[in-house]
Amino acid sequence: MNPFRHLIVHFKKERSLFAMGVAALLTVDFAQQLLPQLLKLAIDELQNAGPGPAAARAALAGVLLWAGLQLAVVALQGALRWGWRMGFFGMSRKVEYALRRQLFEKLLTMHPAFFRKLRLGDLLSRAMSDLAAVRESLGFGWMTLIDGVTMVCFTIVFMVRANALLTAQILAPMLLIPVLVVTLGRKVRENQRAAQDLLDALSQAATESFSGARVIHAYARQESEIERFGRACLAYRARSMRLVVVEAVYWPLLWVLAGSSELLLMHYGGLLLGLPPGKAMSVGGFVMFQAYLAQITWPVMALGFSSNSYVKGRVSIGRLNEVYDAEPAVTGPLQAAPEPSTRQDTVLSFINVHGGYDAAPDVLRGVSFTVRPGEWVGLASRLGGGKTTLLRLAPRLEDARLGEVRLWGRDVRAWPLKALRRRIALVAQEPFLFSETVLENITFSYDGDPQDRFAEAVEAARIADLHEMVAGLPQGYATLLGEKGVNLSGGQKQRLALARAIFARPDLLLLDDAFSAVDTATEERIAPALRTALPGVAVLMVSHRVSTLRLCDRVVVLEDGRVAADGTPDELLQQEGYFFEMARREFLARRVGLET
Ligand SMILES: Nc1ncnc2c1ncn2[C@@H]1O[C@H](COP(=O)(O)OP(=O)(O)OP(=O)(O)O)[C@@H](O)[C@H]1O
Ligand SMILES: [Mg+2]
Repeated sequence: MNPFRHLIVHFKKERSLFAMGVAALLTVDFAQQLLPQLLKLAIDELQNAGPGPAAARAALAGVLLWAGLQLAVVALQGALRWGWRMGFFGMSRKVEYALRRQLFEKLLTMHPAFFRKLRLGDLLSRAMSDLAAVRESLGFGWMTLIDGVTMVCFTIVFMVRANALLTAQILAPMLLIPVLVVTLGRKVRENQRAAQDLLDALSQAATESFSGARVIHAYARQESEIERFGRACLAYRARSMRLVVVEAVYWPLLWVLAGSSELLLMHYGGLLLGLPPGKAMSVGGFVMFQAYLAQITWPVMALGFSSNSYVKGRVSIGRLNEVYDAEPAVTGPLQAAPEPSTRQDTVLSFINVHGGYDAAPDVLRGVSFTVRPGEWVGLASRLGGGKTTLLRLAPRLEDARLGEVRLWGRDVRAWPLKALRRRIALVAQEPFLFSETVLENITFSYDGDPQDRFAEAVEAARIADLHEMVAGLPQGYATLLGEKGVNLSGGQKQRLALARAIFARPDLLLLDDAFSAVDTATEERIAPALRTALPGVAVLMVSHRVSTLRLCDRVVVLEDGRVAADGTPDELLQQEGYFFEMARREFLARRVGLET
């Protein structure tokens, strides 16, 4: 497969910019060839001037003419240089924008399993440095390639036309420059890359120490943290020094090669200057040669740079392709069949469901039960018993390996994803809040301006027992959360996540231990309010507390990946089993004064 396939699509849209860049660059490079010629004409004018003030004036007029022409050429070049910058760099920025957008859109459709494989840092480096490398190889890479080839060809043609033998004599060292750039240049890049990786590790170590500062203090681990950080610094320094050494050889060597050509010109050109009159090269001719030589040095290096930048860009686009070409593991049907009737007696049903993660054995091994409209079903199991896994199957954050999950009687895989997820709200075990305002966090499921839904948001916050707290914040619902805003307590976060779910007006509300950080009294306030506010909404809630589970109509207990008990809380309390155990432990804990 062509590694550039995604790139080409976006590149084609910008081809007029690119064509403009090429045209401007070619013109600049051609005009550049005229400058040494004009220089030669001006100097020859002086050399050939006869004696006497009249001749001097004539020579001066000639020099002024050539100088004026040079000025005109340079002015034209200035304008055209702006053109090629806009062309090449503008094109590369636009393609980068399109690629970045495509990347972001792709990531939004990806399945959680994908994010388990690719780590966050990895994704970020693709989004930042790989995209930058692609942009560079597009803008800078194309520019240096085209500039290098045309400048070298044009210049050599003009030099050969002036003196073929001299050209051959002086250009040999120059030809080694691209070889050097490619070989030693690779060493430079390897070291740069290794140094970059070590710097990443260093900032990773620092970030972790800072965010874990409290734990580090609590365990008095400062010394060992300092030592760990010191080691990372030393590794980075060692690698950076190697880079310095390689670069200290690389750049001077480049200029030595360029200088050798200059030296050869002094020697062979000098011999030509010294020939008897008639055969000798004019001073103007010599100066012109020198000007050509000077202007070819950079393009010869540029050819090497462009090959490096191509290699870098190719590696990066390959890494990006891995994301672009990843298949979203979960896809819904594109054609929306008419949605099933909501006048049924089951909202959610699990039918012999098996499920698990990646290559690990099944966590769920044949779970079957149903949830009816308006019914509250509690879900209990030991730690790691598969409760979260089960909840994730309903909105298809994960798919069942075997069996079926149905919403309103239809297999969830037959629902268009958007429609399915609009009907289900999940409050995750670890609530996630965005660094936005309280209002924006609550109205997250709404596409329009959050302000339009202010009343509903307040209502949802009231139900979640959050309104008073929010009203007490300095800017109320407009208060920013997170990083640079207010930080909420665990229980407040949970209630905010709950308000977000209530606001979404789902048919099915999934609460994954959503009251774990809320005390029993608050929970007992929220639950009835939730019931009255959301009549007919089915609730499936995970909890580790009997007091919470007793609020439910039914409780399902999972053991060994299967349903071990299913009944009203009172029924389950009459039976030996996990629920009874939980209740006994909680009761004992209360007796000894350990509020759970
Ligand atoms: N992302 C994951 N990748 C691989 N295995 C996982 C993943 N998440 C959970 N598991 C495994 O699946 C099993 C069930 O986990 P799950 O989170 O569903 O349990 P749980 O009942 O919600 O536990 P808890 O009561 O602690 O919340 C555990 O053994 C866990 O190790
Ligand atoms: Mg869980």
